[in-house]
Amino acid sequence: MNDLTLFFACICIIQPGLSGVNLNETNIWGPGLKPDKIVMPARYFFIQLACTERDQCISNSAQENLEVKIDGLTEQGTPCRSWINILNRKDGFYIVRYKIYVMCIDVKISVYYKGEHVGSSPYISKDIVFNDECRCPRDSLENIIKTWECGSTPLLIRKKLNHFPKIDWTQLRPEVIKTFDKPLSVSLCHYIIKDNRVHRKCYGKYVGFNMFMDAIFLSLTRKTKLPDLEIFVNLGDWPLAVHNMPEKYPIMSWCSSNDSYDIVMPTYDLTESTLENMGRVTLDVFSVQGNTKYLFEKRIPKLFWRGRDSNKHRLNLIKLSRENPDLINASLTNFFFYRDKQEEYGPKADYVSFFEFFDIHNARSLTVRETAFLNG
Ligand SMILES: *[C@@H]1O[C@H](CO)[C@@H](O)[C@H](O)[C@H]1NC(C)=O
Ligand SMILES: *[C@@H]1O[C@H](CO)[C@@H](O)[C@H](O)[C@H]1NC(C)=O
Ligand SMILES: *[C@@H]1O[C@H](CO)[C@@H](O)[C@H](O)[C@H]1NC(C)=O
Repeated sequence: MNDLTLFFACICIIQPGLSGVNLNETNIWGPGLKPDKIVMPARYFFIQLACTERDQCISNSAQENLEVKIDGLTEQGTPCRSWINILNRKDGFYIVRYKIYVMCIDVKISVYYKGEHVGSSPYISKDIVFNDECRCPRDSLENIIKTWECGSTPLLIRKKLNHFPKIDWTQLRPEVIKTFDKPLSVSLCHYIIKDNRVHRKCYGKYVGFNMFMDAIFLSLTRKTKLPDLEIFVNLGDWPLAVHNMPEKYPIMSWCSSNDSYDIVMPTYDLTESTLENMGRVTLDVFSVQGNTKYLFEKRIPKLFWRGRDSNKHRLNLIKLSRENPDLINASLTNFFFYRDKQEEYGPKADYVSFFEFFDIHNARSLTVRETAFLNG
């Protein structure tokens, strides 16, 4: 240790105030602070540390100083078991997520920085805290939408719904089935919710993806009593109810377009990663945010895409990317459907993992970063 480091070490010991984190201004918010009101498989909330200098908020030592504790009692009066995971987004924000495995009472969430409560910690739940597996439809749907602060229906979905002010299923149901029951080209499931139970019948050959739709309906019926309803869900990769058909068909889809009536909903990757957060799926939106290597500013504003050749739009994207390399970086990782076009749209690019996907930076910014690192 030279004199200079000793000097800095002394300042830190004598003046703890210089640690740089202003506890009073630390912000904590999110649905996971109200576990008795909002039931999720993995609950989550956010912490924004207030620092005099940003680096202090994103360093490993800041993370080590942050501690979250969850106390509660089971029905038998024993302590509730929980699993907590803190993700450092490296921009001053932290994501805390946790799982509670059984029904708990007197749940108290404490957030400490260097052993002191921050934000409005502790957060105390007055009502019973249910685990997600509990079949406990306690709240009305209206209440859930309000407490979850879902906001209004997105414009895109409203626009699609506006085509169907009234649906007469007695007339439409057999028509939809007749039109789309094409085992080799369409995968469609018909859902009926009656008395809060989910019934389904699928049409088509490859309908394994119905498990994602099943999971969402089952999760909702565990939390609330859904109204009786009937819908058709398209499990395929392209819209079905295209404009040039003789009739408008109300079909829920994971994709739509300007020339189809399909009503879009969040894709199964999103619903799956929400339901399996901290569980089977580790590559969810939160894990990715907690595993980035580069600061947001170091990334380049460019569309990045990797995938295989499953439809011709993807080939068009490769063409677009070649014409606009400053805007789009797109490559195919495999050829299967258009093997004959490999020469034109190849060569095959390396597979990019989900973690790396959101961390793409260009060589120039890496150099800048490395220079800054060496200098600082
Ligand atoms: C934080 O709040 C406490 C009490 O509310 C106050 O005494 C202290 O001066 C505040 N510190 C800062 C840095 O604002
Ligand atoms: C689709 O329609 C919207 C407006 O309704 C328009 O802004 C958008 O450019 C259209 N997209 C395509 C690909 O035509
Ligand atoms: C596209 O991204 C890959 C992976 O980061 C990179 O190796 C390649 O150089 C990029 N291409 C262009 C044209 O920027």
